[in-house]
Amino acid sequence: MSDLPSRISLREVGPRDGLQNEGPVPTQAKIELIDRLSATGVRRIEAVSFVRPDAIPQMADADDVWKGIDRAPAVRYSALVPNLRGARRALDAGVTEIEAVVSASDTHNRKNVRRSTEESLDDIAALIGEAHLRGATCQVIVSTAWGCPYEGDVPVERVVRVAGRAVADGADSISFGDTTGMATPGRVRSLVGAFRSAYPDMALNLHFHNTRGTGLANVLTALELGVTDFDASVGGLGGCPYAPGATGNIATEELVHMVQDMGIETGIDLDAMIDAAADAERIVGRQLPSQVLRAGPRTRTIPP
Ligand code: COA
Ligand code: ZN
Repeated sequence: MSDLPSRISLREVGPRDGLQNEGPVPTQAKIELIDRLSATGVRRIEAVSFVRPDAIPQMADADDVWKGIDRAPAVRYSALVPNLRGARRALDAGVTEIEAVVSASDTHNRKNVRRSTEESLDDIAALIGEAHLRGATCQVIVSTAWGCPYEGDVPVERVVRVAGRAVADGADSISFGDTTGMATPGRVRSLVGAFRSAYPDMALNLHFHNTRGTGLANVLTALELGVTDFDASVGGLGGCPYAPGATGNIATEELVHMVQDMGIETGIDLDAMIDAAADAERIVGRQLPSQVLRAGPRTRTIPP
């Protein structure tokens, strides 16, 4: 395993990708979850999204959540936006790390943001310009990168072309989102390989959902390819309102549990993340899918 990275960077997306898919959660509980997460050693948290409040009522309080966070100096907080309007709201709120989302599949993009992929890309080009003018960075998230619940497979060439347009328009980094858990290790290899050949120097984040149980296998494959930046959500919170059957992201504590035992640093205190996952369960009032939350870390023994 000597050729695996020695350190990776995780972005905790539970407060946004997770909570947008749950029943109503009080603003104060969201703030407490984010503050709890920022004490686990995680360095990046996707805190909110600035979307139409009637499209995603769970994120209608984004401004208040953003204002209410007790900012930890070591943590970078980011916000997801679907369009220029959302980016302006984020910039006005003081966000300096923006993620703009576009689906590689036209049908999913229309369901999600009521635009074609090309129309979203045009809007994102303007959005990147505005973010940069106002001193913020912009990552472009290409979702349905490994398949679309409506269209099925999305060709690798199309995904790379969509990402390439964002690169040409000045995106600071690219993220590939497996919105409905359709990625498998072979597909991870193809897409990451094709993207790396075309854009060897571009920063790349991967965002997996565990819908079909391949989440950690996909991460391991990506680690072997040298990818060092992943999204995950505490407890495995998450889904996508416009993606039928989508379940949570890979669980942060499961990812940390696996890679730490392989000697890969994340900066995260595993026990603290498991405690945060237990909190997340209390907040949403249902059992979350994380198995490490149920079983505890492999080093936790029981009396014989
Ligand atoms: N935040 C708040 N309001 C917004 C907005 C945003 N980001 N973008 C548009 N609006 C408002 C406009 O101001 C306009 O309001 P007005 O009529 O009072 O002037 C109204 O919404 C219609 O604007 P339009 O540009 O036509 O938006 P739309 O109705 O086509 O909706 C999105 C497009 C992208 C805003 C909407 O589909 C959305 O918020 N989707 C979010 C999807 C999501 O979060 N998915 C999960 C994450 S991937
Ligand atoms: Zn997601």
